Amino acid sequence: AQTSPAPTPPMGWNSWNHFAGKVTDADVRATADQLVSTGMRDAGYVYVNIDDTWQGKRDANGAIRGNEKFPDMKALADYVHSKGLKLGIYSSPGEKTCAGYAGSYGHEAQDAQTYAAWGVDFLKYDLCSFGDQMSAERKAHPDDPQAGEKLMIAAYKKMGDALRATGRPILYSLCQYGFADPWKWGPSVGASMWRTTDDINDTWPRMFIIGQEQADIAQYAGPGHWNDPDMLEIGNGGMKPDEYRQHMSLWAMLAAPLLAGNDLTKMSDVDRSILTNREVIAIDQDPLGKQATRQYEHADMSVWTKPLSGGRVAVALVTSSWGERRMQFNLAEVGFPNGASVRDVWDGKDLGRQSGVFTGVVPGHGVLLLILSK
Ligand code: GLA
Ligand code: GLA
Repeated sequence: AQTSPAPTPPMGWNSWNHFAGKVTDADVRATADQLVSTGMRDAGYVYVNIDDTWQGKRDANGAIRGNEKFPDMKALADYVHSKGLKLGIYSSPGEKTCAGYAGSYGHEAQDAQTYAAWGVDFLKYDLCSFGDQMSAERKAHPDDPQAGEKLMIAAYKKMGDALRATGRPILYSLCQYGFADPWKWGPSVGASMWRTTDDINDTWPRMFIIGQEQADIAQYAGPGHWNDPDMLEIGNGGMKPDEYRQHMSLWAMLAAPLLAGNDLTKMSDVDRSILTNREVIAIDQDPLGKQATRQYEHADMSVWTKPLSGGRVAVALVTSSWGERRMQFNLAEVGFPNGASVRDVWDGKDLGRQSGVFTGVVPGHGVLLLILSK
């Protein structure tokens, strides 16, 4: 048996949120350099993932090749590995990816072997044009309302099996936007993570809604298999620092994969400090692997709790109000009837022993992130 490539939520970077279709070999190398020089690699961000638009034409034997932006995938993988990092790529079970490049349909085993030969460590497999196959399957089996879903799950299993057959540990990341409850069957196709939603974008409302939507699927996350509420937007410029702190806090509370999506060559000190906060990352990476649940939701406030190792509990007080909010919770209701030692994570301050009702001030569109211990 192979050990899971994801005992804790995967961390790294992905090209899509900033570079989209423009990403090049040079961008990926520059990102690898920056992951090292900014301290992000040492904080845990080890995957360097090329998203859609790297694919070129298949050769005479049907083997996939990089396009003119990616002339030598093996050399790129070697470069990324030389920095102590891992390389990820992207494909689709369909004939075409979402951006219209070559997918893996009919070439699954061959593509898995090619990725392994290059030294790829991570595959994001995106549904995209496979919707056409699903529609055809539904038409062919009008008696079976699940015909399309069954075909999709079989297609994800085909690639999961092909990756396993290479003998190289390649982390398998499903991307089909939460369709057909992937948290229920993802582990059975060999996946370590699966998208739970449609795409994020670099706006506070979209990020906030995705975060809130994760409340009911916490039970499906755990060591080796994670819900993926999509990649981070921190540093892309569309949110203010309090909003990016809320984004990072929610994703850490959700035990989400932390895949930065910004241009690391132009990262501000504030954005770097948000992405590399060791205590926040430790909440995400806690070995218990529990995803936070929402304890209260009331008007523009919510309170989330995440059990941590050592009998500790992380608590996030979150608001969608524009202005700051006073928020309260009862320590007994989150497991501390005799009170707790409270630490404010973003401020890096111990608040001492507290008991009864805790009251704190949460910045507008922000978060108060606490760790409670006995
Ligand atoms: C879909 C995915 C995105 C990204 C694009 C690439 O929209 O959800 O994360 O991979 O495709 O085309
Ligand atoms: C008060 C309210 C709860 C909840 C919390 C949030 O305690 O009574 O319903 O909104 O605040 O902190």
